[in-house]
Amino acid sequence: MRFLDARIDLDCGCNYKCIYCLNRRSAGGAATVYPLDKLIEVLPQLKECCWSVFLACGGEPTLHPKFGEIMREHVPRLLPKTDVFLVTNGFRLNKSVCEAIVESGITRVSISVDTVDPHTYGRLCACAPGTLDVVLGNIEMLLKVRGAKKYPKVFLTSIAMKSTVESMPDVCAWVVGAGLDGHRIQYLISYDIEEMRDEYVAGTAKACLSLAECKSILSKGGVYWDIPLTFKDKVVSMMLGALFVKNKAEYLITSAKKLLAAVQKPNCRFAGLIIHIDNAGNVEFCDRSGISPGNLYDGSGVELKRRVKETFNRMRKNRMSACPDECSYLMKK
Ligand SMILES: C[S@@+](CC[C@H](N)C(=O)[O-])C[C@H]1O[C@@H](n2cnc3c(N)ncnc32)[C@H](O)[C@@H]1O
Ligand code: SF4
Repeated sequence: MRFLDARIDLDCGCNYKCIYCLNRRSAGGAATVYPLDKLIEVLPQLKECCWSVFLACGGEPTLHPKFGEIMREHVPRLLPKTDVFLVTNGFRLNKSVCEAIVESGITRVSISVDTVDPHTYGRLCACAPGTLDVVLGNIEMLLKVRGAKKYPKVFLTSIAMKSTVESMPDVCAWVVGAGLDGHRIQYLISYDIEEMRDEYVAGTAKACLSLAECKSILSKGGVYWDIPLTFKDKVVSMMLGALFVKNKAEYLITSAKKLLAAVQKPNCRFAGLIIHIDNAGNVEFCDRSGISPGNLYDGSGVELKRRVKETFNRMRKNRMSACPDECSYLMKK
């Protein structure tokens, strides 16, 4: 059994500058791109201990100059029995990119769209309002290119904040009308971004009311939802989420562990189950593990599998350092 999720940025730069995002790096240039030869070295190591690999954490994956080749050739060859999840802002999903994604056979694609109001979209993503139409058109094209194929499942991810929460039901109505498979709504993490302080609405009566309407629209439309409402809702969406992944047992066990961590320690959603590998080969676990896995390229961090085993042993024996109030792992991502 493999219990880790890996996060890897094909390109840790971005073509957007969303006002709520910690990633303010521009794209392009050797520094932001994951070197192809290194990626080919790292993916087989991830296959050994990760049930799922997220291709994007803090950047825009479709910017990688070899994106098509990575999706068509390397991902299916190097991660054959792993759930591969692509997260994108959707702007560059042109026909050939959509074809590469569908040919790759990956399980899930999630496109981030917080609002279907062009002006709010333009303000939040720091782009022209017309960009929204391009993105929504691209999502419809991805669904068309996929046709009757089982994968990838196509989801929308939206951030609920003051600017978006009341009109979130409109986003859900678009999701149902376009025929997407799922919609995940998450609350804004305001980090320390000055402009975002007033946008935090988690748990307010207005937000809960609006999100309950979202749940109703998506349920009636037969679309999977993952919405931060009650604990019971979280459990239901976690169970239903198994319908979309290939390795269901690994998904269910990992999700249950994360849920348990969130209950025991509200600031922890990961319980040491996520690793991030940057494009210089550095591997990062959460601080609870007490283990620094080192670097996958220089030999100091080889044998990722052994390191993972050590981490689980420490966690089982409860030999982790206490977490601070804020999750430092999450703050860095
Ligand atoms: C950092 S992005 C990277 C992938 C891609 N560029 C995208 O936007 O989908 C990954 C996800 O983090 C979300 N995100 C970014 N900043 C956030 C914040 N402050 N609070 C909650 N989610 C955030 C984005 O909406 C996106 O769904
Ligand atoms: S949320 Fe995604 S698209 Fe927006 S700036 Fe961050 S990485 Fe780029």
